[in-house]
Amino acid sequence: MTTAARVPRHIAIVMDGNGRWARARHRPRSFGHNAGRKAVREAVESCLREGVQVLTLFAFSSENWHRPQAEVGALMNLFVRALDKEVEDLHGHGVRLRFIGDLQAFDEPLRRRMHNAMAHTAGNDRLHMNVAVNYGGRWDIVQASRCAAEAVANGDIHVDDIDENRLGQWMSLAELPPLDLFIRTGGEYRISNFLLWQAAYAELYFTDTLWPDFDHACLRLAIEDYARRERRYGRTGEQVAANH
Ligand code: IPE
Ligand code: IPE
Ligand code: MG
Repeated sequence: MTTAARVPRHIAIVMDGNGRWARARHRPRSFGHNAGRKAVREAVESCLREGVQVLTLFAFSSENWHRPQAEVGALMNLFVRALDKEVEDLHGHGVRLRFIGDLQAFDEPLRRRMHNAMAHTAGNDRLHMNVAVNYGGRWDIVQASRCAAEAVANGDIHVDDIDENRLGQWMSLAELPPLDLFIRTGGEYRISNFLLWQAAYAELYFTDTLWPDFDHACLRLAIEDYARRERRYGRTGEQVAANH
C-alpha cells in the first residue's frame, strides 16, 4: 500500500463553528465557546489513545481581535478559567502544553498563566499540545524572517545560508514532527491564516461538524481518512509505491 502512515504524528485543528452552534440553541456566542472546551478535552484524549504525538489547536487568531469587544473579553476569561482548571489534569496525562503566537498582546495575568503552564508541563512528552493564540501564519513567517535578518546582522550566518531549512528552523513548532493532518471543523474551506508555512504538505480535512460537536468518533473518521491518503510530495504514485 502506498498510503500515509496510519496514524498522523501531528494533527492541527481550526476549531470553528462555536458561534453557529450557540445560535442554533438561541444562546450567546460565548456559550458556544464554553461548549468547545469539552471538545478540546475529547480531542486530547483521542490523541493520547490513538498515539498521536502532537496536537496543535487554533484558539484565537490575530484577526479575532476584530470581533466585538464583549466576545473578545469572554474568550480571554474563558482562557484564564480553562488554564486554571485544566492544566493539572493535562499534566497528569503527560501532556506538554505550549502556546504559540504573539503572546505580548495578552495582559499580564494571562501571560503569567500561560508561562506557568508551559514551565509546569515542560518535562512531559506523551503528547505535545500547542495552543495557537494571537497566532497568524503570516506573523510566524515575519518573525522567522526577523530572526534570520538578526542572525545576518550579528554575523552569525551569511545571507546565502538562508534556505528553506534554515528559515524553517525559526518557525513555530520547528522542533516538533511536521504537520501531517490539518483539520477544519465548521464547514468553511479556508485556512484563515493558520499554519501557512507548516501546512505546505499537510493533508487537509474539512468537516461540517461544528466544533462543540466534534467528538472521538469525528477525530477517528479524520484519522481513517488520512490513512487512506497517498502522500506523493511531488513524485508519481509509482515512485511512491516503489519506495515502500
Ligand atoms: C471558532 O468559532 C472559535 C474562535 C474563532 C475563537 P467561531 O466563533 O468562529 O464560530 P462561528 O464560525 O461564528 O460559528
Ligand atoms: C479561525 O476561525 C480562527 C479560530 C478558529 C481560532 P474564524 O471563524 O475566525 O475564521 P474566519 O473569520 O471565518 O475565516
Ligand atoms: Mg468562525
